[in-house]
Amino acid sequence: MRKALVAANWKMHGSLAGLQTFLADLQVQDAVDSVLLPPAVYLSAAVALAPDGLACGVQDIGTAASGAHTGEIAAEMVRELGGTWAVVGHSERRLDQQEQDDLVATKAVAALRGGLAPMICVGETLAERQAGHEQAVVARQLDAVIDRIDRAVIGGVAIAYEPVWAIGTGETATPAQAQNMHEFIRSLVAAEDSQAAQQIRIVYGGSVKPGNATELFAQPDIDGGLVGGASLQADDFSAIIAAAVT
Ligand code: PGA
Repeated sequence: MRKALVAANWKMHGSLAGLQTFLADLQVQDAVDSVLLPPAVYLSAAVALAPDGLACGVQDIGTAASGAHTGEIAAEMVRELGGTWAVVGHSERRLDQQEQDDLVATKAVAALRGGLAPMICVGETLAERQAGHEQAVVARQLDAVIDRIDRAVIGGVAIAYEPVWAIGTGETATPAQAQNMHEFIRSLVAAEDSQAAQQIRIVYGGSVKPGNATELFAQPDIDGGLVGGASLQADDFSAIIAAAVT
């Protein structure tokens, strides 16, 4: 049985005061791995104030361990500050920074090198879904990275399926649409390593809210969520964590 995983992707939102209030009010659950992903500048404060049972991480990392890379942050630095997760390949970075599959794969490998668990984001755009290419796109995004991850640690990686058309739009994939894609993703992992496919957590992202989380998380291949907008308020995010308790 996979333990549920629910992560709060704050994107470029929040403040120190807001973080303090959020962490004072948040309710985590023993049965759920809960993760806060604030803007990286707040990581230290988040780690210091996090209640027991809340892990922290970052929304992106650089590929190098150190060096002349102005503005970049190494996985090793995140780990040093107590972070344990790094999102890689979020669709906003694929769009805003033109991150390609190969770079995303390199970042996933860099996260593991630095002692972080990568949460690898995949997902199709609306045009790609309308053209019937959603599985091909997700398979391409995943193929680029799966081959590069050491078999011994692949079960500890997480994959976030985030259909781009559902992110921040209020439009959610139906539980059946999400389940279909999660099942497909698990079959792709199984083709590489059947044991890892049973261990790996595949979480759904795209307008997850307290009102739709229970039904989404009830699907057999949906192991939790990557939550943007609804993760900014402690009561909403607490309710989403509670919805992941099985
Ligand atoms: P959303 O964002 O919940 O606001 O749709 C999800 C994400 O981008 O991770």
